[in-house]
Amino acid sequence: MCHQFLMLTLAILMVVYQIIKWLFPHDDPMPAPTPNLTTVAPTLEELTLIPVLLWHGMGDTCCFPFSLGHVSTIIKENTAGTYVHSLKIGGNFIDDYKSGFLTHPNKQLDYACQAIKNDTNLAKGYHAVGFSQGGQFLRALAQRCPDPPMRNLISIGGQHQGIFGLPDCPSLKRETCEYYRTLLNYGAYKPWVQKFLVQATYWHDPLNESAYRNKSTFLNDINLQTTETQPSQANYAKNLKKLNKFVMVKFLDDSIVQPKESSWFEFYKPGQDKELTPFNKSEIYNNVSVVL
Ligand SMILES: *[C@@H]1O[C@H](CO)[C@@H](O)[C@H](O)[C@H]1NC(C)=O
Ligand SMILES: *[C@@H]1O[C@H](CO)[C@@H](O)[C@H](O)[C@H]1NC(C)=O
Ligand SMILES: *[C@@H]1O[C@H](CO)[C@@H](O)[C@H](O)[C@H]1NC(C)=O
Ligand SMILES: *[C@@H]1O[C@H](CO)[C@@H](O)[C@H](O)[C@H]1NC(C)=O
Ligand SMILES: *[C@@H]1O[C@H](CO)[C@@H](O)[C@H](O)[C@H]1NC(C)=O
Ligand SMILES: *[C@@H]1O[C@H](CO)[C@@H](O)[C@H](O)[C@H]1NC(C)=O
Repeated sequence: MCHQFLMLTLAILMVVYQIIKWLFPHDDPMPAPTPNLTTVAPTLEELTLIPVLLWHGMGDTCCFPFSLGHVSTIIKENTAGTYVHSLKIGGNFIDDYKSGFLTHPNKQLDYACQAIKNDTNLAKGYHAVGFSQGGQFLRALAQRCPDPPMRNLISIGGQHQGIFGLPDCPSLKRETCEYYRTLLNYGAYKPWVQKFLVQATYWHDPLNESAYRNKSTFLNDINLQTTETQPSQANYAKNLKKLNKFVMVKFLDDSIVQPKESSWFEFYKPGQDKELTPFNKSEIYNNVSVVL
């Protein structure tokens, strides 16, 4: 499992690198060197790169040298030293690791919102790259915490329409993963499970859509799929539309996200778990009509 995780991480690194090269060509800070000293020097603004915010996935942390630590290095090396902030949820690495399973996303988002406001390097805005559940958490951050502004969002294997099945839990012991899976299958919408297990908060049961809408404590909110619209949701669509670009990467061979099409906002039609609703026919597309 660990080996698989490493391979996945490497694949992700390659994808991120290509996307960053493709997405940020205009952010190249280095104007062609001008030997003519009488020309106007570039302003500080022009020299300052737009920083990058990373949010790790389940079973990972902000800074392992073989995962996001390495992603940070790749970004820095290929963009002449862009500032990278990799979110560490909690005071230390252990809390950060545990947060991926056990800290409620709403709490993590409050923390992340504070952390980016505190970081003066991000004051003028930032690009964001999210891995796995970090993808939907960053989208939620764009919706709930618009200041400082997120410029572009890249979600890599995110679960924007939730999951219905958890085939694999990277870096957890098999027994623990089995236990979480059992919990999800039998009681994802029980209040204590919603409080206890992060993955329950984006559990999306297509056989009981109404239970999802009434009882999910996270995903139904950011996807505007609650039974009644809450006042806090008023600015979600407006804030999301402020993104310049929103790129969603789906893995064709994904052993963690089920269905993998959730990475592209697609999900099972209610009442069964075989047929999918195309993105452009989904409710979220109508309601939020994200710019791709
Ligand atoms: C340097 O730039 C100035 C202003 O753009 C121009 O007038 C001048 O001819 C340039 N000198 C050389 C040597 O290119
Ligand atoms: C943000 O800054 C405040 C005030 O300095 C501090 O109390 C808080 O812990 C910081 N939060 C984070 C997430 O960095
Ligand atoms: C849907 O969930 C509710 C409450 O969680 C439960 O009472 C109901 O029996 C479920 N319906 C189906 C079809 O599973
Ligand atoms: C969800 O809430 C609606 C309206 O309050 C109710 O009619 C429906 O039975 C609830 N469904 C479940 C599964 O609890
Ligand atoms: C939805 O997308 C499919 C292919 O991706 C396209 O053929 C279809 O015309 C689109 N429908 C609408 C309503 O935009
Ligand atoms: C989302 O769109 C559906 C119809 O497509 C509508 O019934 C619902 O009220 C909308 N929700 C919000 C929050 O705009």
